Amino acid sequence: MTTRSPFVVVANRLPVDEVKLPAGGREWRRSPGGLVTALHPIMRAEHGTWIGWAGGSGPAADPFELDGMRLHPVSLSDDEIEKYYEGFSNSSLWPLYHDAVEPPVYKRDWWDSYREVNERFAAAAAEVAAPGAVVWVQDYQLQLVPALLRELRPDLRIGFFLHIPFPPVELYMQLPRRVEILRGLLGADLVGFQRPLAAQNFLRLTRHLLGLHPKGLEVEIDGRTVRAAAFPISIDVGEIERLAASEPVRARAAEIRHELGDPKHVILGVDRLDYTKGIDRRLTAFEELLEEGRLAVPDAVMVQVATPSRERVEHYQTLRDAVELQVGRINGDHARVGVPAVHYLHQSVDRAELTALYCAADVMMVTPLRDGMNLVAKEYVAARVDLGGTLILSEFAGAASDLHQAYLVNPHDADGLKEGLLRALAEDPTEAARRMRAMRRYLRGHDVDRWARSFLTTLGVPEATDALAAVI
Ligand code: ADP
Ligand code: G6P
Repeated sequence: MTTRSPFVVVANRLPVDEVKLPAGGREWRRSPGGLVTALHPIMRAEHGTWIGWAGGSGPAADPFELDGMRLHPVSLSDDEIEKYYEGFSNSSLWPLYHDAVEPPVYKRDWWDSYREVNERFAAAAAEVAAPGAVVWVQDYQLQLVPALLRELRPDLRIGFFLHIPFPPVELYMQLPRRVEILRGLLGADLVGFQRPLAAQNFLRLTRHLLGLHPKGLEVEIDGRTVRAAAFPISIDVGEIERLAASEPVRARAAEIRHELGDPKHVILGVDRLDYTKGIDRRLTAFEELLEEGRLAVPDAVMVQVATPSRERVEHYQTLRDAVELQVGRINGDHARVGVPAVHYLHQSVDRAELTALYCAADVMMVTPLRDGMNLVAKEYVAARVDLGGTLILSEFAGAASDLHQAYLVNPHDADGLKEGLLRALAEDPTEAARRMRAMRRYLRGHDVDRWARSFLTTLGVPEATDALAAVI
């Protein structure tokens, strides 16, 4: 019998991926990306049910308990992975919503798959949600779920949160299925975005495309009121702080610097290997500064950790080739035997190693061309319990609206980026500590728990279920 839950999260991915072991059997490994980073702590605290895909193809595993959560896997076939996930989600929507920094691709047969998979997720949510439950749908892969779910279960309170940017009207208008997507989102009671401008874009579109009459942050449709608002997402600050202050992580940070040759300057980048992250821009800045003799190896070294991501999508393959060519060229020109200029890891590292890297870095470079939030920037600040380190942050990351004391840069401006890097490296430690302290104060007051509470309270959760009301 299905266990019914008063609080359900629906996301394309479960917080863990199923990994089939060569010797038979399987294990569960943390999934990549900021969505999982943000929701994991809340779901553990709420003991909710998380509906999502486990990363492989074929039949879904049975629901199971993990880490205080109930996980409810949804299956995807190979064809759906290609059309729904790699196709419509990550070749049409992802680039379009990120300012079309790479051209979006539209193929007609991807849409049917997107719709079918959204129907499957909606059916799963309808099955596991208790009467009057709160269902919180996540991100661009599932924009049809709110309306589909409302049809199946009008008793539910439905929230939707978009983790990535929502584009301006002129860009959104490119989307071949723009009306269906907008209607899908309007099935929610509350649609949350990272930034106020995104909520405005959404409301403007309801007028432009559907002839609705938004008032303030609300719009009426089919006799219901839908609210739209910004809820800038954050991280579990305590988790990172505890790791950063722990003896093993501190020792590992010192060891990393030593393994890098005890350089004067360690420059760090940590990202999913994604073309929105501006990895090439920061490599170019470093490369040109080496060429001009304004930085030199082994005084300055760069570490770039890039998690493999969406590896069968063409733009990602092109990006990987370009980044690896660039790293090879920089090392060819500037490394010495045993002393690379760029240490490039195409892999995911665990939370302790990641925190040690943050603690070991003098300058963290976060240079996306467009990013909903960018949690790496916030993790770096949370990790600097010693008030050391400086953060270079793109103006085009949502995080720039929260972390005002970072060195804000325009990643399209190569010279500006180089100057920003030099300024950050030369920063007086007292001034750097002042900036870090201010950003840390902000983060401590705005962690992921507050984000979730603020969204759920606006959704009206206290009236919706007693179980959740007890927690928030
Ligand atoms: P996105 O959601 O686009 O991937 P974010 O910066 O918001 O970008 O979130 C990325 C999350 O993935 C962060 O929690 C970060 O710590 C984690 N992450 C990114 N790169 C790596 C890596 N190489 N190894 C481990 N974790 C990573
Ligand atoms: C971003 C998206 C998430 C996504 C994650 C990892 O954080 O907002 O929805 O899960 O990237 O991407 P992937 O395609 O591997 O799930």
